[in-house]
Parts: sequence; structure tokens; C-alpha cells
Amino acid sequence: MSGLKDLAGKTAVVTGGASGIGKGIAQALKAEGMQVVIADIERGALEAAAEEIGAVGVATDVSSMSSVQALADEVRLRFGTAHLVCNNAGVGSGARVADMKAADWDWILGVNLRGVIHGVQAFLPLLSANPEGGHIVNTASMSGLRVRSQAGGYAVTKFGIVALSETLALELAAEGSKVGVTVLCPGMVHTNIKSSLRNRPDGLAQGALADYDIEQSELGARMRWLDPLEVGEIVVRAVRRGDLYAITHPEQLDEVEARHRRIEAAFKAAGGR
Ligand SMILES: NC(=O)c1ccc[n+]([C@@H]2O[C@H](COP(=O)([O-])OP(=O)(O)OC[C@H]3O[C@@H](n4cnc5c(N)ncnc54)[C@H](O)[C@@H]3O)[C@@H](O)[C@H]2O)c1
Repeated sequence: MSGLKDLAGKTAVVTGGASGIGKGIAQALKAEGMQVVIADIERGALEAAAEEIGAVGVATDVSSMSSVQALADEVRLRFGTAHLVCNNAGVGSGARVADMKAADWDWILGVNLRGVIHGVQAFLPLLSANPEGGHIVNTASMSGLRVRSQAGGYAVTKFGIVALSETLALELAAEGSKVGVTVLCPGMVHTNIKSSLRNRPDGLAQGALADYDIEQSELGARMRWLDPLEVGEIVVRAVRRGDLYAITHPEQLDEVEARHRRIEAAFKAAGGR
């Protein structure tokens, strides 16, 4: 698998870079000497973060293909190319699957899943044409590897990101591409995801998705929480090594294993080994 060994002087784009994990990734990449572009829908936070990090801020709605294409065009005009694209913007409001409305699906699929698809579509041609090679980091979640109640809509998007990333990695490797892929699957990280509804478009109909501060819950209290910059440093390592999976909470393997065991048991029950 390819990886970007030398980051200094190269160009990175981070969506959702105005807050939380995206901002942490942008800071870690900046510390490696990269030129960093952060893209976000929240203009005030974007300007403040760009100033703080020393990054270029580009207002972008990742749920719109034309907006992400405009971002890619601006990066090409300004820097000539891109080496690293982190498709990270996302929203994390929750509801029971049975309660979710069409507008809820439109929003969460649009930002979390289509946002990553748009990033791949707009930037892959740029990365593939870069003689120095390139890398794509897609932010999924532990929720892309196992499910929890109240987070079904979110998990649908994150399982989709894992599938997209695994397939893209397979296809690029088969054709000998110099572009690598990492899917980032974080556990709990201190961010503003608990107020994701701040970015739900006003034009969307009311739905059931609600914000939830898991940090204040009994489950949250049992978890190990990371700061965004620690996740950024994990991303830098994964990009250098060309790792397909970037795992932040190895202690959560039990939950993923338990899901795999249930699937294996179903194969066994159907007459498999
Ligand atoms: N915080 C966690 O514990 C955690 C765990 C696993 C995965 N994640 C994932 O990490 C990513 C970042 O989330 P975070 O926790 O840092 O939350 P956050 O709210 O702090 O940051 C998300 C950023 O995405 C931006 N954004 C939202 N909608 C957008 C849109 N349509 N276009 C462009 N930007 C948009 C927001 O303005 C914000 O700056 C998400 O994909 C999330 O699902 C977070």
C-alpha cells in the first residue's frame, strides 16, 4: 500500500476542519509543515480556525457536489495540486431507526456519506495526476464497525464510508495507483458533535434526529476520551505508513469481535465451517 512519507511542503485539504477532529487533523498536518486548506459550512468558525491554525479557509457544503468541486478547483488554482484529502465533515445526531423521517435521512446521508463520495469524486483526479502520489483519509467511526441503538442512521453512513474506502483501496492498489486510502474509525473524542443540529439546513423539514451529549451519560463516563489533536497525530502516522484502517481506541475490539462472532455463527448455522 502506498503512503505519503514526506509531508512537508505538500498540500492537504480537510473538510469539517473548523472544529473537532477536522481541526485536530489540520493542526497535526500543519505541524508536519504541510500547506493546509480547511473547508467547512460554518463560516464564523471556519475563519477563526483558519486564522488560528494558519490554514486557508474555504466555505464548503460537502453535501453538494458542485460546492466540493468548487473547493477542488480552488485548491488546484491556488496550489496547482493536492497530496492529501481528508473527507471528515460529519454530523452525529441520533434517533431510533423507526422514528427517522425522510428529511433526517436526507441530511445525515447527504453530509456524512455523500460528503465523502463527493470528496473522492472531486479530488481523486487531482491526486491521481500528482506525480508525487496522494492519499485520501475518510472519517468513519467505530460506528462503521459495530452498531448501537439510537445511532442507526449514523451507522448506515459510517458503514458506507468503510465499504467505500475498502473498495477504493482495493481498486487503486490493483491498478498500481500512487494514491492510498485510510479509513479513520475513532471512538470517543471531545468535539462539538454533540451540537450537530447547529448545521442542519433551515430548509429541511422537521425530523426526529436529536443531539445527545454522550459525555454526560453513564456510557460516556466509562469511555476513554481523546482530544482532537491526538486523533490528528494518529492520522499522520496512518498516512505515512499507508494504513487502510486508523484505529484510535484499540480497547474497543471486543465490540467489533462480538459482531463478527455473530456473523460467523450464522454461517456455521447455515452449514459453513
Ligand atoms: N467526536 C467523536 O467522538 C467522533 C467519533 C467518531 C467519528 N467522528 C466523526 O468525526 C467527524 C468530525 O466530527 P467531530 O466530532 O469533530 O464534530 P464537530 O461538530 O466538532 O466537527 C464537524 C465539522 O463538520 C462541519 N460540517 C457539518 N456539516 C457540514 C457540511 N454540510 N459541509 C461542510 N462541513 C460541515 C461542522 O461545521 C464542523 O466544523 C465526523 O465525520 C464524525 O462523524 C466523531
